[in-house]
Amino acid sequence: MDLLEIKPINGVETYQGDFTSDEALRWLEEKLNLPHDEFGQGTADIVMSDMAPNTVGHKKTDHLRQMVLLEYAFDFALKALKVGGTFVAKSFTGGTTNDLIKQINSHFEHVHHIKPPSSRKDSVEMFIVATGFKG
Ligand SMILES: C[S@@+](CC[C@H](N)C(=O)[O-])C[C@H]1O[C@@H](n2cnc3c(N)ncnc32)[C@H](O)[C@@H]1O
Repeated sequence: MDLLEIKPINGVETYQGDFTSDEALRWLEEKLNLPHDEFGQGTADIVMSDMAPNTVGHKKTDHLRQMVLLEYAFDFALKALKVGGTFVAKSFTGGTTNDLIKQINSHFEHVHHIKPPSSRKDSVEMFIVATGFKG
């Protein structure tokens, strides 16, 4: 899923739209056979988000916008993941609030904060890799 057009990928279903919209959420729920209003019936092995907002160059604003997308992705993971599942999401160094880290830690067996070699050294982007979803 992306706001922008996605080039076709063999064997992959894609959706152009806003992940934070009801319409996009309904599409995902339908594809994954998830009930709209209930938790605890996840069907996904992994939820992965590489979403990032268009940065405006104002550090605080960019961090806040990234965190909003991370929270949306995390909320979706809580609903979509099977027990034992994995959540991977882009974050910013120093951007994750303690409250959100606590919440993520409480739902997964292991949580790692990773800066992959492919990520530019001067970029503040990093990834949260949480495995062993506990429900
Ligand atoms: C770092 S790029 C990654 C793009 C893609 N994963 C790739 O590797 O080519 C971040 C992407 O997040 C998308 N994005 C930002 N906000 C979004 C939202 N609310 N819903 C869906 N996609 C969003 C942007 O359009 C952008 O293409």
